Amino acid sequence: MVDTNSEGREGHVTRRQFARGFVLAVVAAAVGSVLSFLKLLAPSKKGGGYVATVSRGDLLVYARGSRMGNLLKASEFEPGEAVLVYPKGKSGNEANLVQLIRLEQSEFKPPTRPELTDQGFVAYSAICTHLGCIVGWVKDKKDPEASYTECPCHNSIFNPARGATVMGGPAPIPLAQIGVKVSRDGTLVFTSGFSGPIGPQV
Ligand code: FES
Repeated sequence: MVDTNSEGREGHVTRRQFARGFVLAVVAAAVGSVLSFLKLLAPSKKGGGYVATVSRGDLLVYARGSRMGNLLKASEFEPGEAVLVYPKGKSGNEANLVQLIRLEQSEFKPPTRPELTDQGFVAYSAICTHLGCIVGWVKDKKDPEASYTECPCHNSIFNPARGATVMGGPAPIPLAQIGVKVSRDGTLVFTSGFSGPIGPQV
């Protein structure tokens, strides 16, 4: 009898413990979700803590894909194409992430800084100035010069031929330009730091 009661009591306690644990897990998950939601609503810290360390003379390497870490060659790009790049050896800092774009050199108009471009190459920070997502590229196959930079998070659109000025969406300021040039051996090199603030500016 004692054993039976003991087993029954033990079984009852185990179910209660399980139920209590389940409830605690549900509450913890709910609290976590609420906190995540509040974090999304909270305004980001201006600048987002991004501190770039790109230097004049840094070589450009692929930031994504099977060629990640490899040097870029100018001959690998046609007008209307873009790619994410890092300065060689500095990929551990996302603030250094840059979108390199090739257009026709004649397409560039102010406020693009022509002295920071070369042979149709222009480069901007890849960190959206709204909330810091990484920007993408929308290629217009029929009219490569009509291609543009777009942020996938809230659809801010930036004009690559006009200094990455904001054409739509919530981004408050353009993406900062950074100087690039084609070296004699066809590789690409940074020629300056960023021309303006990078990261979220809201
Ligand atoms: S983070 Fe880019 S549009 Fe919002």
